Amino acid sequence: MRLRVRPANGLRGAIEVPGDKSISHRAALLGAIAEGPSEVSGYLEAEDCLRTLAAIQKLGVEVARKGPGHYRIAGVGLDGLQEPDAVLDCGNSGTTARLLLGLLAGQPFWTLLTGDDSLRRRPMARVSAPLRQMGATVVGRADGTKLPLAIRGTRPLSALTYRSTIASAQVKSAVLLAGLWADGPVVVEEPATSRDHSERMLRQFGAQVTAESRRVTLLPGAPLRGTVIQVPGDISSAAFFLVAATVVAGSQVEIRGVNLNPTRAGILDALEAMGARVECRQVSSASEPTGTVIAREARLRGTTVGGALIPRLIDEVPALAVAAALADGATEIRDAAELRVKESDRVAALVRELGKMGARLEERPDGLLIAGGARLSGACVSSGGDHRIAMALTVAGLVARGETVVEDTACIATSFPEFAETLNRLAPGVVTVES
Ligand code: S3P
Repeated sequence: MRLRVRPANGLRGAIEVPGDKSISHRAALLGAIAEGPSEVSGYLEAEDCLRTLAAIQKLGVEVARKGPGHYRIAGVGLDGLQEPDAVLDCGNSGTTARLLLGLLAGQPFWTLLTGDDSLRRRPMARVSAPLRQMGATVVGRADGTKLPLAIRGTRPLSALTYRSTIASAQVKSAVLLAGLWADGPVVVEEPATSRDHSERMLRQFGAQVTAESRRVTLLPGAPLRGTVIQVPGDISSAAFFLVAATVVAGSQVEIRGVNLNPTRAGILDALEAMGARVECRQVSSASEPTGTVIAREARLRGTTVGGALIPRLIDEVPALAVAAALADGATEIRDAAELRVKESDRVAALVRELGKMGARLEERPDGLLIAGGARLSGACVSSGGDHRIAMALTVAGLVARGETVVEDTACIATSFPEFAETLNRLAPGVVTVES
């Protein structure tokens, strides 16, 4: 599949983006092990999150689809999961694999996990190491550090204080989920605060979770009770439209129902530092703050992005790189070595593909130096199978001279199946999908 992108004259209108990917995964996993049913609406019906739903079904959990994005998950309680009789395929989804490993560490049976070509290349030692410390058996390829993996859990798991060397919500969440079956408190310390959706949702289900600064503690013992979850829109999907509205002359785009959790909203800070005109109105502050974001065309200047801001915008770097390429002056993105182990090596992919369009980016071990001031030209570029690279290149195509063809775009369906359609609603006919 490929997208043919024409230069846009302006993006105008109001949209909603699909449900948050991270929150959807967590709703499925916690719903599965709660006592009693959970009702989830706004669930992201994209490949990654559907993998998580399929996985819990193979573990013996009944899932009923009541309507678009609306699911009833019949929780089986902490003792109710069953040994699956087939391999669980996590597809492209790192969150499915790593969070499931945490949950499976507490199950006294064997489960086999695998994934697609990209996921089988991604590091799993970051979760298998702490889970082994807690007592789980993890075996498989590359000494149990790459999928396919087999895990056999045990009960109780040992209490653990884990000092993670990376700011990763997947690592933190895997250890916290395993902690539900531990014989004492589980503590995770991280070098910078990563997204805290697991902590918020665990509390909503009744678990005892406390957090101070970069340290989270879960006290096992409290039962999880089924609940009602309304998944807000995904700021990581919204980010492509925020950048597009900023860089395409004559644009004004309103995005409603977006999750504004501060551990996720770093893109708003970075764009503001670059001079973007992004207005944010918080509407509700239930378990997850949600609101409306409005972006207008603006002239941008380069900035420096690093340190504690990185985990708050790690998935938005592809979109941010497009903004930076068009800004006045250079942008430096540092402390972001994690970009190299995402769905693809995003540092290499951005340098290579945006380079084909005339942007000047320099590769750094832990990030990028982006020259700014680019006059982009339409080119034939490729996502390399990475959904966020595909969407970022499409946004770049909106401001390039001539036509851009983005190859290998089926991957967009892992997080945002309606991406092209949504873009065409804001700028009719600007993107054509070719199979
Ligand atoms: C996610 C955490 C982040 C993020 C990923 C989703 C999550 O990964 O990049 O897209 O839902 O916990 P890391 O935990 O590897 O930083």
